[in-house]
Amino acid sequence: MKTLIILISGRGSNMRALLEARLPVDRIIVISNNPAAEGLQTAATKGAQTICINHHAFSDRTTFDSALADEIDRYQPDLIALAGFMRILTDDFVFRYHRRLMNIHPSLLPAFPGLHTHKRVLDDGVKIHGCTVHFVTPKLDHGPIVIQAAVPVFPNDTEKTLADRVLKQEHRIYPQAVRWFLQGRIRLTENTVFIADTCVHDSVIY
Ligand code: GAR
Repeated sequence: MKTLIILISGRGSNMRALLEARLPVDRIIVISNNPAAEGLQTAATKGAQTICINHHAFSDRTTFDSALADEIDRYQPDLIALAGFMRILTDDFVFRYHRRLMNIHPSLLPAFPGLHTHKRVLDDGVKIHGCTVHFVTPKLDHGPIVIQAAVPVFPNDTEKTLADRVLKQEHRIYPQAVRWFLQGRIRLTENTVFIADTCVHDSVIY
């Protein structure tokens, strides 16, 4: 049985894109650290199993991550997809799911890791922006890159118009990356991802 777990903290639009993508999995379980996450409702209406583990109920990061891992392990997932999961994960957690923990980030990594990427792009006068799906390593918003999408930055862009343009691409590339993984087409060396039966440019969308 193939199982995908999606971790969310808020709106859940990337989760929705994954749920709507008809991925080759038998079950999808959505877990949130935030009981008020809008995405939990969306997931339930889409028929996914939902679980909330409120991080405020734990004294520190380690005990929360350990409770989260215990819950995840009950389902023996093939892949865990972070989709707007706004918690820094402990190294132990990341190593436990080595090679099966993916993230989507709203910038062309390794540029602009961290928060407020669209504002920082505008402030720096960057002309090309985008999003990245990558495997998670202990260093925040780093790790082997699976796929990226690039978008132009226009002179009259606001944070909102730019975020919307990037988000549209996020919704395209995350399901693509997860599909490749579930199809067994991804080979991962220490720092590099190879995707079977694709040409190099399939992993970059313009
Ligand atoms: C997305 O833009 C995602 O790339 C970003 O949070 C947003 C969540 O939106 N993730 C990060 O910044 C992780 N570093 P969503 O809840 O609608 O998918």
